[in-house]
Amino acid sequence: MPLPLPARLLAALLLAFGLLAGPAYAQSGLIQNAAARRVLSLNGSWNYIIDPYENGFYDYRREAFDQSKTGKGGYYDNQKPSSAQETELIEYDFDKSATLQVPGDWNSQDAKLLYYEGTIWYKKSFTLKPQPGKRYFLYFGAVNYEAHVYLNGKKLGMHRGGFTPIQYEITDRLSASGDNFVVVKADNTRHADAVPTINTDWWNYGGLTRDVYVAETPGTFIKDYEVQLAKDAPTTLAGYVQLSGGGRAGQTVTLNIAEAGIRQTVKTDTAGRATFRFSAKKLQLWSPQSPHRYAVSLSSGGDEVQDKIGFRTIQTRGQDILLNGKSTFLRGISIHDENPLIPGRARGEGDLRMLLTWAKELGCNYVRLAHYPHNELMLRLADEMGLLVWAEVPVYWTIAWENPATYQNAETQLSDLISMGKNRASIIIWSVGNETPLSAPRLKFMTSLVKKARALDDTRLVAAALELHREGTSIHVDDPLGEYLDLTSFNEYAGWYMGSLDEVATYRFDIKYNKPVVISEMGGSALGGYHGDAHTRWTEEYQAALYQNQFKMLSGIPGLRGMTPWILTDFRATRRQHPVYQNGFNRKGLISNTGQKKKAFFVLQEFYRQQARKYGEK
Ligand code: GCU
Repeated sequence: MPLPLPARLLAALLLAFGLLAGPAYAQSGLIQNAAARRVLSLNGSWNYIIDPYENGFYDYRREAFDQSKTGKGGYYDNQKPSSAQETELIEYDFDKSATLQVPGDWNSQDAKLLYYEGTIWYKKSFTLKPQPGKRYFLYFGAVNYEAHVYLNGKKLGMHRGGFTPIQYEITDRLSASGDNFVVVKADNTRHADAVPTINTDWWNYGGLTRDVYVAETPGTFIKDYEVQLAKDAPTTLAGYVQLSGGGRAGQTVTLNIAEAGIRQTVKTDTAGRATFRFSAKKLQLWSPQSPHRYAVSLSSGGDEVQDKIGFRTIQTRGQDILLNGKSTFLRGISIHDENPLIPGRARGEGDLRMLLTWAKELGCNYVRLAHYPHNELMLRLADEMGLLVWAEVPVYWTIAWENPATYQNAETQLSDLISMGKNRASIIIWSVGNETPLSAPRLKFMTSLVKKARALDDTRLVAAALELHREGTSIHVDDPLGEYLDLTSFNEYAGWYMGSLDEVATYRFDIKYNKPVVISEMGGSALGGYHGDAHTRWTEEYQAALYQNQFKMLSGIPGLRGMTPWILTDFRATRRQHPVYQNGFNRKGLISNTGQKKKAFFVLQEFYRQQARKYGEK
């Protein structure tokens, strides 16, 4: 409930003079396609301070400095001695501290940080003189997990969630001199009530893991937009444009898709928003075989933003998945945001393009970007390279289902994922979670997320990796969450966690729902280069035989319309500690962490060749 005006005015004045601590700005809604703006990159070397006791955030009585009367006292002041004698007691100095590369997790940049979980402070100075009539937004592609962000010693806000963008308007926080510094308290401590929760099967990479920049916009600009085909309507374009600033009614917005001979003008309402829906008969539809993207321009007043957008429809009909009205099979593979050839999180286009190139080489037309929102650039590359995408929030395993703050966190991450990905033709599925144990609170939590996803985007499918249970050779899929989803997806590890290699082919599925079946995970481990007979676990031969037996078993599912075997490449996982076969890596990759393709890679590749032929796709 907004404060009465006088109190708000007083608060704004106090904030402006730093007399009232606390987040001056709530996280403003994400700017769509912010990277297309004029940006000042803050990538590169940042000074850092390791702070496991959070000494730079709390005083010795555990009171937060930035909640104190002055708001001062924390490392975010970036305090310097006022004289050469260094008479003041200052027990830190960013500029004399070591540096970390941004983007990049800290774990892989220094051996002493490999397992580090806690706070690391980052600091970067930059020169930016604010221009009259312009607005400035500080943007982080992701910070894992909790970020407290300060500019020139003043708090901008706090964000929880390790894989979605963070953005704060800093227009009236920049220094007139042009000399600025940003400080971030990044804390990757795991919490039972966080999203994800305390236990995951991936490395808890901490830090500023994706790009950081300042975006400049006009005073009134096109902050958000959606331009897609309307639900199940291959010749109808629909969407909206949201202006920021001004917010005058009746402002003209022009949508221009020159190649399609489309030029539409719409007028904004009093909230600065305009919707549109019109016939577009001549569009060349996007598909993996023909990933055509149009140059789309949106302009209003002095502002123009360009994007490359593909147009396609996705729907289900009985047990079929229809892409542009034609039945398809999702030849997929699961992918973590990690390139095995460099340590740690994927950092830039080269890493991401390499992962998707391997997927294409495997014969994929589809990828599952597990288990959290990936880099926006990955989604844009999937658009460009022709790969359909399952995008997911990290509602993974034993989440704190009955904690309202946990639900709000999950819903915010889902909303931010959909906001970031809504114009990407490659994304066909929003997944609300993975392998979550059955209970009434879990069902309420997950179905609320399903409802939210559909409210934000009625054009894409909604899914989750469901639970299953085995009785003898019958594998039952009757997870109540399945009722609310468009696909029946589940992780089945027959031959690895469930039953022996030879039993796999005898298993039969009993699936409750008459929906397309898209296996969200299957597979087993192999140590790259370790060879033996097919019944010796951890050998490449065992993994290859498992895949062969899996295909025999899966051919018994009449509604099978896709799969994303687990996983493209070996990846770091703290839970995987066998000193010979794992050594801190999950070995289910079809490619080893040295980039070597295992035998099972070629088994899956051949299976996908057959599937492509069966569906008349190359
Ligand atoms: C689970 C889980 C994955 C995990 C995999 C495994 O299904 O979804 O995140 O890595 O199995 O056990 O290797």
